[in-house]
Amino acid sequence: MSAPATRPGRFIAFEGGEGAGKSTQARLLAEALRVRGLEVVTTREPGGTPGAEAIRTLLLSTEGADWGTRAEALLFAAARADHVERLILPALARGAWVVCDRYLDSSRAYQGGGSGLSDADIRTLHTIGSEGLLPDMTVLLTLDPVQATARLALRDQGASDRIGGRSAEYHARVAAAFASFASAEPGRFVVIDAAGEPSQVHARIIAALDSAIGL
Ligand code: TYD
Repeated sequence: MSAPATRPGRFIAFEGGEGAGKSTQARLLAEALRVRGLEVVTTREPGGTPGAEAIRTLLLSTEGADWGTRAEALLFAAARADHVERLILPALARGAWVVCDRYLDSSRAYQGGGSGLSDADIRTLHTIGSEGLLPDMTVLLTLDPVQATARLALRDQGASDRIGGRSAEYHARVAAAFASFASAEPGRFVVIDAAGEPSQVHARIIAALDSAIGL
């Protein structure tokens, strides 16, 4: 009798603005994949390895340096390089699934759409830092700004990090950038309405991923 076919690992990223529920949905997806018997590594950006978590503190602290846009983009790319080399690629190589809360498209949306760097420059940093590694599928969670702000008020009790605390106009540019990436590359994104209960959003994600990549 032949051995059961093993399925290679997959790399799934969650993207979207603040308060859309990415962390909750990443956790629910990971649980659902584990129930299917898969090894799943959950991680986040910026962060995921000791070096990248150290850079996260530099980037998001409201008490440290106030980075310029180019330095900020380089720090995100450096954190991602460590994360990809030390955690994501080894996990994929052993056949695990990687579920990541934010990835490259956050740099494109925030440092690009929000702060004005060119998409080509951000992609060049990604080529240098992470050999251009892209997720197999990216789940873009969309939520109207009023509902997102209400969720954030519950979660953060008025405190926000150095980037989350930027203006409503900045976050509107970020949201528009995410939407444009998804429409430019429909094969790389599933776009999910993040309104409603977590279990409802989760069901939408499972259905969309199942038809896009087969779970
Ligand atoms: P985090 O608390 O992880 O996100 P959220 O508020 O959505 O739960 O904070 C990460 C912040 O960093 C968030 O404001 C988005 C920002 N960010 C970038 O600006 N560029 C990037 O490449 C990444 C990964 C995150």
